[in-house]
Amino acid sequence: MEYVALGNTGLEVSIAGLGAGGYSALGLRRGKTEAEAAGLVCDAFDLGVTLFDTAAAYPTESVVGKAVRPFRDQVVLSTKGHAVEGESLRTSRELEEQVYASLRMLETEWIDVYLLHAVAADDYDRVRACALPVLDRLRHAGVIRAIGITEAYDSDPAHAMIRKAASDDAWDVLMAGYNLANQGVRPIVPEGRTFGMIGMCAVRDPDRLRDSVSSSLGDLVDTGEPDELTDLAYRFARSATFIDTVVFGTSDRDHLVANIRSLTLPALGSSLLARLEEDAGAAPQ
Ligand SMILES: NC(=O)c1ccc[n+]([C@@H]2O[C@H](COP(=O)([O-])OP(=O)(O)OC[C@H]3O[C@@H](n4cnc5c(N)ncnc54)[C@H](OP(=O)(O)O)[C@@H]3O)[C@@H](O)[C@H]2O)c1
Repeated sequence: MEYVALGNTGLEVSIAGLGAGGYSALGLRRGKTEAEAAGLVCDAFDLGVTLFDTAAAYPTESVVGKAVRPFRDQVVLSTKGHAVEGESLRTSRELEEQVYASLRMLETEWIDVYLLHAVAADDYDRVRACALPVLDRLRHAGVIRAIGITEAYDSDPAHAMIRKAASDDAWDVLMAGYNLANQGVRPIVPEGRTFGMIGMCAVRDPDRLRDSVSSSLGDLVDTGEPDELTDLAYRFARSATFIDTVVFGTSDRDHLVANIRSLTLPALGSSLLARLEEDAGAAPQ
């Protein structure tokens, strides 16, 4: 495992991070037990993973918190809260309560990275104005170490929110989707950025990803090996120099091992990378 600085946060993270959300939620959305989900977290730690990402909206905050308790000071815990509920912006008090609720669920005294969850571009200004002072205060109080924001990947595939956040010096960390079929975030992230970049959704939905890229990359990924595309997809995300670390989600121990392997292999060679950027990047989503 390789460890890198997460932007200027002062936090160091493994280049492969375990995401506890997505369609698998460590298996809790696939019929697995909390004990099995916690086992995945411990297996990931044993394999060198030190970044664990969850959220108040996922069913996994308490599982992740319990699982990492024996090695809490050796890992970076990232969690998230929504600033908007329906049409309504949460109040400062509600946002603060939400952070403390996450602390309790995670059974921890501090949150390394607290992210505003899936913020829509249209909500950006009002969310920033209300939530940033609250989170800043909690950061000064030592409750939060770094403040960030994530995009609503499925409903904002053009990354309109990340475009705003990347040109604002408010955030310590951004989390954005980047994959073979959606590479739109690459030109948005400025060279010389100081914020940390967490990549997500490198695969998201294996069947949908295959449909998106099969016409452009069929010769690379349709040779009969079922895991070929996921391997290429994680290696592609890991090869992006504007991303510090990639979080992946799984319910399956074999996938955990395979994905950590893919993410820790050397970056893809420049000619393959150029082809993936040119051909697959233009694929329909
Ligand atoms: N707005 C946000 O803040 C936001 C949005 C989305 C995601 N996230 C974060 O980013 C993390 C990663 O996103 P994601 O969960 O969508 O993960 P992902 O890594 O893009 O895709 C994971 C999906 O691919 C499957 N998969 C993983 N490895 C595989 C393999 N080796 N072979 C075949 N299938 C495989 C998984 O199913 P199996 O269970 O079968 O492995 C899983 O459902 C989330 O867990 C969450 O922490 C945040």
